[in-house]
Amino acid sequence: MKYEKICNNIDDTKVLAEKFAELIKDNGCFVTLYGEIGAGKTAFVKLVADALGVKEKVTSPSFVILNEYHTAQIPVYHFDLYRLENEGVKTILDELKEYSEGHQATFVEWAEFSNDEIPFNHIKINVVYVDDDLRKYSFEGFGDYNNKIVEGLAE
Ligand SMILES: Nc1ncnc2c1ncn2[C@@H]1O[C@H](COP(=O)(O)OP(=O)(O)O)[C@@H](O)[C@H]1O
Ligand SMILES: [Mg+2]
Repeated sequence: MKYEKICNNIDDTKVLAEKFAELIKDNGCFVTLYGEIGAGKTAFVKLVADALGVKEKVTSPSFVILNEYHTAQIPVYHFDLYRLENEGVKTILDELKEYSEGHQATFVEWAEFSNDEIPFNHIKINVVYVDDDLRKYSFEGFGDYNNKIVEGLAE
């Protein structure tokens, strides 16, 4: 299942993020995010985290690889693989898998460095910078559970 949404501005992205949060708030999900710098990956994660009820300020984990938030209904984990690059990502794939099991929301930025080799079910989001405040968010679900979430976005 695939779903594509054009967001004309950050408010559109917020509406999309809130819809996404509603669909994952009980059982969580594992999300990989692709897209160039400034596309809107962190912005989306932040808006979903806010909608889930995270109280802290959500910032980009670029320098720490992982930020975690435990103030919402479900735990929120936010990875950024940028500093690990391809070789490093191989070493943490097993650990990432653990974050895909159980009721939590896990977001992985710079999934490009995983060589598209995420060996477990997840939702892939590709973010494209079109211009100014215009962004295209494309969602693809892998596995029944994730496909249901993407279907929910399209409804
Ligand atoms: N429609 C939109 N959706 C998401 N971000 C937007 C949008 N319009 C403008 N922006 C801005 O674009 C920037 C995206 O940055 P960020 O989310 O950090 O990118 P990335 O994590 O992909 O490198 C933010 O400053 C955000 O406010
Ligand atoms: Mg980012």
